[in-house]
Amino acid sequence: MHSIPNKDNFSDAYADKAPWDIPRAQPAFVEAADRVAGQVLDSGCGTGENALFFAERGHAVTAIDFLEEPIVRARPKADERGLKVDFRVHDALALEALGETFDTAIDCGLFHVFADEDRWRYVAGLTQVVRPGGMLLLECFSDQEPGEAGPRRISQADLREAFAAGWTIESITPTQFQVIPEYADTFTPGGPKAWFVVARRT
Ligand SMILES: C[S@@+](CC[C@H](N)C(=O)[O-])C[C@H]1O[C@@H](n2cnc3c(N)ncnc32)[C@H](O)[C@@H]1O
Repeated sequence: MHSIPNKDNFSDAYADKAPWDIPRAQPAFVEAADRVAGQVLDSGCGTGENALFFAERGHAVTAIDFLEEPIVRARPKADERGLKVDFRVHDALALEALGETFDTAIDCGLFHVFADEDRWRYVAGLTQVVRPGGMLLLECFSDQEPGEAGPRRISQADLREAFAAGWTIESITPTQFQVIPEYADTFTPGGPKAWFVVARRT
């Protein structure tokens, strides 16, 4: 049984070496970049590599994380690369409070951290802030990843249930998260197995 990580768990991860904090965008998002349109929300952005990747492609990006530490690390990256991203400390369980709507939301490793009741709240928020016709691109741990290390596993059925109302799932494809070298032996060779979801807001 996987425990649900809390803020302290994420703070501890950033105080050490966070397994997901690779110095580039996750390959699944790079491959799917052409599916991303318009104004982008990166939900649970960490130190911002995916947000910065989409900013470099010309998108206006708002990127949120509920911890200050990753946001404080993300902002100078934008300055160093001459990019503009609106990095904000904000809880993804209160997306409506952003007061903005988006053409595309990306979620790289956030959906799978929520307990069931928060998952519903999170999806309800996404449904409010992504404009009808807009897209969601989401990568989460897959139930195909063996062992207990890392977050709870997500099945295709979980994804279809979570996005049954207000969304059409266009595809769910198997992929792998890249992790930092220190975690190479912790997961399946090549990185933990993941699902990459493309969903359209109806
Ligand atoms: C697995 S990490 C992925 C970070 C980033 N997307 C990446 O790919 O490097 C999940 C991130 O979500 C953040 N997070 C967890 N719960 C959150 C919440 N309720 N609201 C906003 N961010 C949250 C954590 O602080 C962490 O940075």
